[in-house]
Amino acid sequence: MTALMADYRTTRARSMEWVAALSAEDCCAQSMPDASPAKWHLAHTTWFFETFVLEAHEVGFQPFHPALKVIFNSYYNQVGDKHPRAQRGLLTRPSLGEVKEYRANVDARMVRLMESTQLPDALQDLIALGLHHEQQHQELLITDIKHLFSYSPLYPSYFTPVAGPTIQTPPRPAPTWLPLDAGVAQIGHAGDGFFFDNERPHHSVFVQACALRSHLVSNAEYLAFVQDGGYANPAHWLSEGWEWCRQHARLAPLYWKQVADTWMEFTLQGLQPLRLQDPVIHVSYFEADAFARWAGARLPTEAEWELGVSRYAEGGAQGLVQLFDAAWQWTQSSYAAYPGFRPATGAVGEYNGKFMVNQYVLRGGSSATPAGHSRKTYRNFFPAGACWQFSGIRLARDGVCA
Ligand SMILES: [Fe+2]
Repeated sequence: MTALMADYRTTRARSMEWVAALSAEDCCAQSMPDASPAKWHLAHTTWFFETFVLEAHEVGFQPFHPALKVIFNSYYNQVGDKHPRAQRGLLTRPSLGEVKEYRANVDARMVRLMESTQLPDALQDLIALGLHHEQQHQELLITDIKHLFSYSPLYPSYFTPVAGPTIQTPPRPAPTWLPLDAGVAQIGHAGDGFFFDNERPHHSVFVQACALRSHLVSNAEYLAFVQDGGYANPAHWLSEGWEWCRQHARLAPLYWKQVADTWMEFTLQGLQPLRLQDPVIHVSYFEADAFARWAGARLPTEAEWELGVSRYAEGGAQGLVQLFDAAWQWTQSSYAAYPGFRPATGAVGEYNGKFMVNQYVLRGGSSATPAGHSRKTYRNFFPAGACWQFSGIRLARDGVCA
């Protein structure tokens, strides 16, 4: 079996493992326009392979069902019509069973294609893109299920210890500040291995002297911000952030809930007492920025973050922790093209480039990120108000701090 075939089988199987504990009703519901039903994630990731790989490369291609090309198209305008995003939860048909049949059908055809001939490099790259795309949707599936379950008074538990995301144990020792010298440095993907187009070209940046905090902001630290009236003091907030708090009646992170005198948090294991030592998660850019101001710090740029990883997490110089396995880390960098960026031609070129407006870059990875999916050059991105993702806070400071 080739490495690509092995990756295909592993990745596709993981999606099914991660929905194994869910009912058909769980898989159909949609909690908000930004979230998608689990069933839709299962079908859309299959649609990607059928549309971009099989339709172009399978001899005698016939669609599994012609209507699926529209129903499970997410945002690819060059492919054609799309089912309205906010109405994905109304798709009681195809059923979950039919979606599983769709997956099995496409998997069998993909395996036949991969076994039939020596695949050109470009086709192998396209299949690899489809697998990394599915890994992205695996994390989205978890974030969307968590958001859906948060509406249930039963506070359901998703967590399945064998197949699901892991709960992190906080690292030790105590947080420190790690200095970065001023100077020209290189960021962006270089060399071998998979990368998304937005990670290139590798290029030069100038970074001012600054320091990154070794650890993410903890729930205990964020609770101190809440209890200090952080949400009631406009001095900490960007104007849009202040309005966002009013609009959403936000007084604490998304899944925090005060029961009597106890702070609780809705988790993948249901409603639990707030674990003070864990990193705060599910904060928006607005909240991360406000906390940083309150703490006398700021959010790092994505270049600072990447250089910090190069210096303090690789090559033996330890110090930067909770990088890829706790929470995605907001940066103050707007999501924009690197110098010389060119998206791929054709519909697949819509994957990243067309979203380079009104979003901020997050770096790292989370407890819901599939193993091996992220890397130090990975550029995740969401609008400033997004908080249902596993997003947290790493602080930076200007100048070299002791
Ligand atoms: Fe997608």
